[in-house]
Amino acid sequence: MPMFNLSKLVRPHLKYLTPYSSARDEYSGHAKIFLDANENPYGSVGGASYNRYPDPLQAKVKNKLAQIKEVNPSNILLGNGSDEVIDLLFRTFCVPAEDNVIIMPPTYGMYKVCADINNITARRTPLTRDFFIDIPEVKDQVDERTKLIFVCSPNNPTGNLLQKEAIINLLENFQGLVVVDEAYIDFAPGASMLPYLKQYPNLVVLQTFSKAFGLAGIRLGVGYAAEAVVDILNKVKPPYNISEPTQELALEALIRYSEKDQYVKEILAERQKLETVFQSMPLVEKVYPSDANFLMVRTKSPKELYQFLLQKSIVIRDRSKVRLCEGCLRITVGTPEENKLLVEALEAYQNGEIAEV
Ligand SMILES: Cc1ncc(COP(=O)(O)O)c(C=O)c1O
Repeated sequence: MPMFNLSKLVRPHLKYLTPYSSARDEYSGHAKIFLDANENPYGSVGGASYNRYPDPLQAKVKNKLAQIKEVNPSNILLGNGSDEVIDLLFRTFCVPAEDNVIIMPPTYGMYKVCADINNITARRTPLTRDFFIDIPEVKDQVDERTKLIFVCSPNNPTGNLLQKEAIINLLENFQGLVVVDEAYIDFAPGASMLPYLKQYPNLVVLQTFSKAFGLAGIRLGVGYAAEAVVDILNKVKPPYNISEPTQELALEALIRYSEKDQYVKEILAERQKLETVFQSMPLVEKVYPSDANFLMVRTKSPKELYQFLLQKSIVIRDRSKVRLCEGCLRITVGTPEENKLLVEALEAYQNGEIAEV
């Protein structure tokens, strides 16, 4: 593997950044009276008690997460959703108008949006027809200004895991950071790249509380990386990016970790049922294998079907205009009741019921 040189990767001006030093950074002991952060010591409007700033480095959540994931707390960065971690990676490593990143469409849209916001070129190296990483193509696109390669596994919207060997190939041959977005990894047990963190200092793994944990509303994303990478991202992140209620709810979720596994079990069972029903439906041309909590299906008239479902008050995602996903709809696995209504609506459509326009 080529020598990974973090200091060459970081935006030059950030090497000398003095980060914001918050009141809680400067004192974290057990004093009785805190008059250091201009908070309201009387209480909080609304009744709940949130008048104090939260822990900027979220020690309790990180300690618990580290224990569960068998990493060091210093390998963890928490973000306001993994979307914030994605944006931080751009702001920390990519020089606007000069650097570039690699994305592999069809994939999660935020990599390109963050690239555009940060004025960074996102070089597209599409996945192969069967949705795998096109290694020769990626290598062809990489140059000395390529800072990040985004790999989404399981991939959104196609639902499949990408090949571990290909990700390792990138890790071993690329000088920049390989960012493996594992938002859906809880639905594919045993497939995470996290065990490779010690081996590859250029690996960043993103996970989230938004999917299997059922905590999209609290906004909590996790970046796992080498300590030196986390250190620099911590300097760039807003000091109090994770609110106190979010930290409390996340800690509670981690204490009750097995409940997440129960959700996963139920969702996977429902996915299996939906897959079987979809496969038996003449209107469905193909159900793509899924390692996530959604199914991508190809139909002859995706737009019409999408509209029909909307009329029935069912919202799915139309991906039919996305290259390599032509004709495809992405459907999240719902509760048994929701799935039943979905299937009934699909049957009605199949039986010739017309959407009102
Ligand atoms: C692949 C992928 N990564 C990240 C996210 C965003 O996660 P978060 O809610 O943690 O910002 C999503 C959301 O749909 C996603 O599909």
